[in-house]
Amino acid sequence: MKEVKIGGTGFTGSEIILGIMRMDSLSVDEAVKVLETAQKLGINFIDSADIYGNGKAEEVFGQALKKSSLTADDFYIQSKGGIYNNPDRGYKTTRYDFSKKHLLESVDGILQRMGVDHLDSFLLHRPDALMDPAEVAAAFDDLQSSGKVRHFGVSNMNPGQVALLQSAVSQKLLINQLQFSVMHTGPVDFDIHTNMTDARSLNHDGGILEYSQLHDMTIQAWSPFQYGQIEGTFINNPDFPDVNAALQKLADKYGVSKNAIGAAWILRHPAKFQVIAGTMNPEHLKDTVAGADVHLTNQEWYDVYLASGNDLP
Ligand SMILES: NC(=O)c1ccc[n+]([C@@H]2O[C@H](COP(=O)([O-])OP(=O)(O)OC[C@H]3O[C@@H](n4cnc5c(N)ncnc54)[C@H](OP(=O)(O)O)[C@@H]3O)[C@@H](O)[C@H]2O)c1
Repeated sequence: MKEVKIGGTGFTGSEIILGIMRMDSLSVDEAVKVLETAQKLGINFIDSADIYGNGKAEEVFGQALKKSSLTADDFYIQSKGGIYNNPDRGYKTTRYDFSKKHLLESVDGILQRMGVDHLDSFLLHRPDALMDPAEVAAAFDDLQSSGKVRHFGVSNMNPGQVALLQSAVSQKLLINQLQFSVMHTGPVDFDIHTNMTDARSLNHDGGILEYSQLHDMTIQAWSPFQYGQIEGTFINNPDFPDVNAALQKLADKYGVSKNAIGAAWILRHPAKFQVIAGTMNPEHLKDTVAGADVHLTNQEWYDVYLASGNDLP
């Protein structure tokens, strides 16, 4: 599989990433199968977060990695922190927390659960309205000098937030994770509808795709096959007949699955995304990875865009 130069550096990773948000529902043996399949398919990048399954996803990952034929060296391992899920309130998210204490504890917990001695990258999961950039900088410096984290990035941040943080931290922010897919087209709607007055012209993300290209940040697309905010998959979902028909037409043409076309649609964007696949089904993972070899034409890309309920001004 092709590799992406992460943040324009020598740190590279496969175009498709395995996200382990749903790994907490697997037995260790099932997780071994997912990891070994991923590695055979050319995936060399894992994405996690300290809150997935309230830590259980990372525990299952750590146990599976140990039991598998693989080692931590087979993957770049990335996780995220900065969201506080309160155990006293049923693990509800009660605040975002970029304090140095929280970030250092988050990384220690991740390393312990995953059974690894460092993270290749650590991302701030969601913007903390009370963020003190200088405190984040101190946390990053500690994490880097202790050897616990090699690279840093963010998630769900707009250009202003990234620029503010970047002005304070000494490490280049290499990655931004954003929801982007055939059924979540906000970042390109705004580009396409610039200077119009309809709903799609609203600049929800602040021009983050252009900002990321200008500043050589790699965007990782999360939930590539979900509609809404992780409400369910649109693939083979009868509520989304038009987009499924458009995906199927191209799947037939290229001899692949609809998942592959959904992934290829994201990878076709010039910002050079990575796609974070969250399936825990080895067959669906294989289907998805095939998308890395499909290069959609401009017209095919727009056909899928239109079929997912969008219009062109
Ligand atoms: N930064 C953030 O804020 C953020 C937020 C959410 C997620 N993430 C990251 O993104 C990763 C991916 O998220 P996600 O899991 O929501 O992504 P996803 O790949 O869009 O969705 C995976 C889900 O879709 C199902 N699915 C996929 N293909 C299918 C098919 N052909 N038929 C039926 N079901 C299908 C999977 O079921 P099966 O397992 O049965 O295939 C699974 O339940 C996460 O693991 C996490 O690493 C980041």
